[in-house]
Amino acid sequence: MTDYEQHFSRAGAHLQESAIRKMGAVGARIPDLVSFAAGSPAPDLFPWTALREITDRLLESREPGVLQYGGTRGYRPLIESLVEVMATRGVRASVDDTIVTTGSQQGIDLVGRILVDPGDVLLVELPAYAGAITAFRNIGARLVGVRQEADGVDIDHLDRVVQRERSERRRVAALYVTPNFQNPTGLLMSQPKRRLLLDWAARRDVLLIEDDPYGAIYFDEETGPSDTRPIKAGDEEGRVVYLSSFSKTLAPGLRVAWLVAPVAIAGKIETVKQAADLCTGVLDQRIVHEALTTGIVTSGLPELRRRYREKCDVMERALGQELGPLIAWPHPRGGFFLWATLPEGFDADRFLTRALAAKVSYVTGSAFFVDEFDPRLVRLSFSAPAVERIEEGVRRLASAIRDEMAVMSTSSL
Ligand SMILES: Cc1ncc(COP(=O)(O)O)c(C=O)c1O
Repeated sequence: MTDYEQHFSRAGAHLQESAIRKMGAVGARIPDLVSFAAGSPAPDLFPWTALREITDRLLESREPGVLQYGGTRGYRPLIESLVEVMATRGVRASVDDTIVTTGSQQGIDLVGRILVDPGDVLLVELPAYAGAITAFRNIGARLVGVRQEADGVDIDHLDRVVQRERSERRRVAALYVTPNFQNPTGLLMSQPKRRLLLDWAARRDVLLIEDDPYGAIYFDEETGPSDTRPIKAGDEEGRVVYLSSFSKTLAPGLRVAWLVAPVAIAGKIETVKQAADLCTGVLDQRIVHEALTTGIVTSGLPELRRRYREKCDVMERALGQELGPLIAWPHPRGGFFLWATLPEGFDADRFLTRALAAKVSYVTGSAFFVDEFDPRLVRLSFSAPAVERIEEGVRRLASAIRDEMAVMSTSSL
């Protein structure tokens, strides 16, 4: 038999699998599972008919460009539309600093590749999006966590961490943040905090990677574009690499996202993307471009906001009714997630076996940390399941929690 281990590079040997994808594979083998694990959009909210009509039109045209290789930076008319999208978010972008990526996940990976050498420090708020942790770890970054407060990253802690790392002669490559309805906490960074963070980044000469896939999905009447205005909107000095995506507002299967970066950084990203995939799927880009310019994306947003808010309400109500004070979470003002704390003494990793046996899943908090963490934390996604399935899943979760508590109390006798 071939011993493959000896053939792997050091990086290849130490690659880390995504905890959420692994969870998805486990869940797929359990019939009738209610999954609160995957942060997928609701499939009934995809604009199926409109996308079919657009795709038919594009393919019937037989225009070679629809199925041909495209430019690495993306389909030019789509980039021009993205510049307009950025203007609605308060960001002055241009065709020279905007790049289409194959999902924001690729954008995160590519930015990491051009900024980080193995051993360099990549700062992340804690908890942080597991997909970013995995991408940065796989390129050899030393991930260093920064505490988060209710209104976003703790800047005093951030400053102490950077001073410490630099005093130990380590290079700080960037800080990765998700200010709008963060995955996994659902938290919204306040606008004053965003300004303070940008000032801090200028003072300490640190680049920011701002990941914003959820900004358009806000719930409350009192939350809107003035609250979700990106950090990038105030970026006079070119310190922020901004990423966003059509995965949550149109369909993730299209794999179309984009980033806006200072021109010098965008040029490097284009070069590293050439080696990664030559270009993002051209048919996908053409579909998204049509969906944007015909108003399908924008006109669908109010319905998305209403439906995700309803799902969030249903999950919060069901958890309150089934478990009362046994479970707690910060109320999210948008996005796809509840970040919940299980009862005292629970270990979310260990409890997962019982939850799966009760046919309900979640992602354990451990996936979102890079150092110590509270073992009671779990991420519950309300985005994909139908309302009745959310209620059923919470009933199953509550019953598994009560069983676990009963076992814990007998074993402590
Ligand atoms: C914070 C965050 N960033 C990036 C991504 C990746 O999105 P995309 O589908 O655009 O690759 C996700 C997906 O869940 C996410 O939650």
